[in-house]
Amino acid sequence: MNIRLCTKEELPLILKMSEVFATEGCCNGIVPDTMDDLLENEIYVAEEAGEILGYAYGSAETASRKRWFILPGTKNFYVEVIYVKPEHRSREVGRKLYKRLENRAKELGCGTMEVIAVSKSYQKLLHFYIDELGLEFFTAHLMKKI
Ligand SMILES: CC(C)(COP(=O)(O)OP(=O)(O)OC[C@H]1O[C@@H](n2cnc3c(N)ncnc32)[C@H](O)[C@@H]1OP(=O)(O)O)[C@@H](O)C(=O)NCCC(=O)NCCS
Repeated sequence: MNIRLCTKEELPLILKMSEVFATEGCCNGIVPDTMDDLLENEIYVAEEAGEILGYAYGSAETASRKRWFILPGTKNFYVEVIYVKPEHRSREVGRKLYKRLENRAKELGCGTMEVIAVSKSYQKLLHFYIDELGLEFFTAHLMKKI
């Protein structure tokens, strides 16, 4: 499996995958990516035997104010999307995509990674980010329809 930058020709495929992601029902509040979202970011894909198994992207921003332990003037990398097709999950594709983003964040001079995790399978998600990838638990945003 190869983790690499997505080509411009592959962007329509990523848009389709993003639409499937939004309708899969695995996460709350997912809105499909637009072509502008994709063009504005470096999109990484996991590819195997000519098939794109998943994609990920995020962006580096310099903080303008203190937020938790992110200090003004320091760079933070915000993970926007990590998505792996259901039939390829639990094969470390997501882990490799995340690691590529983290390495890119380091190259860009970021001192922190930030993920707002939205999967309904939150126990699995916490296992993925905390146990497998070494992020720290920071906050929980809970809601209930009444
Ligand atoms: C979360 C996700 C990117 C992980 O990708 P992956 O290739 O399965 O990741 P890995 O193989 O490296 O790690 C597997 C771990 O991911 C977690 N995971 C699996 N399915 C998941 C799901 N539907 N939602 C959240 N986490 C999941 C589990 O902790 C799993 O551990 P296990 O194999 O011991 O059960 C992938 O499950 C996915 O695309 N989920 C739907 C979209 C999503 O939740 N994206 C993250 C939003 S913040």
